[in-house]
Amino acid sequence: MSSLLVDDIAELVTNVAGAGGPLGIRRRAAVLVEDGEVAWVGPAADAPAADRRIDAAGAAVLPGFVDSHAHLVFAGDRAAEFAARMAGEPYTGGGIRTTVGATRAASDNELRATVRRLHAEALRQGTTTIEIKSGYGLTVADEARSLRIATEVSTETTFLGAHVVPAEYAARPDDYVSLVCGPMLAAAAPYARWIDVFCERGAFDADHARAILACGQAMGLGVRVHANQLGPGPGVRLGVELGAASVDHCTHLTDTDVDALASTTTDDGQSATVATLLPGAEFSTRSPYPDARRLLDAGVTVALATDCNPGSSYTSSMPFCIALAVREMGMTPAEAVWAATAGGARALRRDDIGVLRPGARADLIILDAPSHLHLAYRPGVPLVRQVLHNGVPR
Ligand code: NIG
Ligand code: FE
Repeated sequence: MSSLLVDDIAELVTNVAGAGGPLGIRRRAAVLVEDGEVAWVGPAADAPAADRRIDAAGAAVLPGFVDSHAHLVFAGDRAAEFAARMAGEPYTGGGIRTTVGATRAASDNELRATVRRLHAEALRQGTTTIEIKSGYGLTVADEARSLRIATEVSTETTFLGAHVVPAEYAARPDDYVSLVCGPMLAAAAPYARWIDVFCERGAFDADHARAILACGQAMGLGVRVHANQLGPGPGVRLGVELGAASVDHCTHLTDTDVDALASTTTDDGQSATVATLLPGAEFSTRSPYPDARRLLDAGVTVALATDCNPGSSYTSSMPFCIALAVREMGMTPAEAVWAATAGGARALRRDDIGVLRPGARADLIILDAPSHLHLAYRPGVPLVRQVLHNGVPR
């Protein structure tokens, strides 16, 4: 069993709440890694011997980012649609069908190459866990292969056959819901941990979304919902009703929505249903940002994720999302860093990631900066110097 010591850490974000505040910050620390797990965390002065050593040289070290919402399985891009938006066109989600056409026409290897490229791009920027959704195939075979390819790089895979009603079912949406609940779910479930629905005007209403999510639950999948992105609606309350791990976007919330989320708070002070905010989408669609402060003040657990997709948010950068959340959404740098690490883990119902304590996965990042504050303070700068994933330097 070989061991690795990450030494001379000026600021270690552990996310173990206590004396170090909510981020569990330790100063002048070291981390020992064995067998892909954190074996010890403590003062650098007391660090045990190890087979190998990485000198953090006075840098900050954090848990790897947990990106709990991404759509990496697609073909083509929609740069022209982005340019049109920046010239004043609104975002409606209608472009999803463009990507569905390109994805259906792509070979397995073309899809695989895109997933691997974006997965590697995210890892370079410090993301050590990434959730990946299907949702651009929308046939039984294309949804199943999207998820099969996603499982090659992540265990956090989500069946999103209910992304939109595809054009060939436009006149008979009930039939599409039956297809999703029946043969499509049966083909997708072996490759998925989660089920998600885009519950929005123009996509799926509350009754259709409830039916689909309930079918997924009956097959053992956990629930997540694309909710309240383009306008107010029933998505958040539906997610709470079904015990969703996360409701995502949360851009347009009523007080009732916020109260419903807050009502899921458990003994550990976190809400069982997390509000996952995706500021890359508001950036790229030039929409108002969600109000993270309102959620946090109500006691709702907030996660940050990229929503990486070719239409509404073509970024894989968690540091970019942290910077937006701090500048535009009322989060402190500490809250944003927590939301991008421990918050994402909570949104995936995981306690082995997003935290640096003995027994956790040795997923950590060394910054080219002395403190986590720099992630928001130095936007657009590639501050992730080194990534350890499962204890292995990348
Ligand atoms: O999360 N809102 C629905 N789905 C994606 C957008 C997909 C697209 O525009 O291609 C989202 O923003
Ligand atoms: Fe999304």
